[in-house]
Amino acid sequence: MIAVDGPAASGKGTIARALAEHFGLPHMDTGMLYRSVALNLWRWGGDPASEFEALRACEAVAANPSDDPELRSEAVSSIASRISAYPSVRAALLDRQKEFAGRPGGAVLDGRDIGTVIAPEATAKLYVTASAEVRAQRRVRELLARGIPAHFEDVLIDIEARDARDSGRTAAPLQKASDALLLDTSDLMVEEAVAEAIRLVSQRVAENT
Ligand code: CDP
Repeated sequence: MIAVDGPAASGKGTIARALAEHFGLPHMDTGMLYRSVALNLWRWGGDPASEFEALRACEAVAANPSDDPELRSEAVSSIASRISAYPSVRAALLDRQKEFAGRPGGAVLDGRDIGTVIAPEATAKLYVTASAEVRAQRRVRELLARGIPAHFEDVLIDIEARDARDSGRTAAPLQKASDALLLDTSDLMVEEAVAEAIRLVSQRVAENT
């Protein structure tokens, strides 16, 4: 089982998908679970400041099609980061993540707390990061490519706010597991980052078998 964690726009999603393909494993993007809750809440007109309303928004989560473009919008990203701080919301989403992580043939999960909370027993853990500026540039390119207007300064402020919220919360904060391998992608092209991730994970798997 491979755990991939890291901050917003660090490249962890791309790396996790590539690892899943390389090792022939199923992949779960756990951020999508929090985004689905956020989208439900937003559509209902619920209040992200209310833990109770956020918890109610967990109920219908499986019903959300995972290719809804709204899931990646900035409004939903920001609500996701807020509601993911609630312990009851995290608890409501725990079982399906643990179950996926425990699949007999193995799996790849990416998120914020995979190596620390969801699967501390993972065979290989990667902590993928990059400077806030590089991550903001990537997010701007991603948004523009999808036809969404984006300004570097605004996106940088948003990324820094999300980093602070994700790392500063009490419930499963974003942090590198002590046994995770660090992969800084600031100066790497996508292909280079993927190749390095495969190398690191293969090495860890070889050590553990
Ligand atoms: O792609 P990006 O890193 O921007 O976001 P994401 O991975 O889809 O996660 C969206 C939000 O969900 C994050 O800001 C986190 O606060 C939260 N999240 C979490 O708390 N725990 C996870 N395992 C995954 C995401």
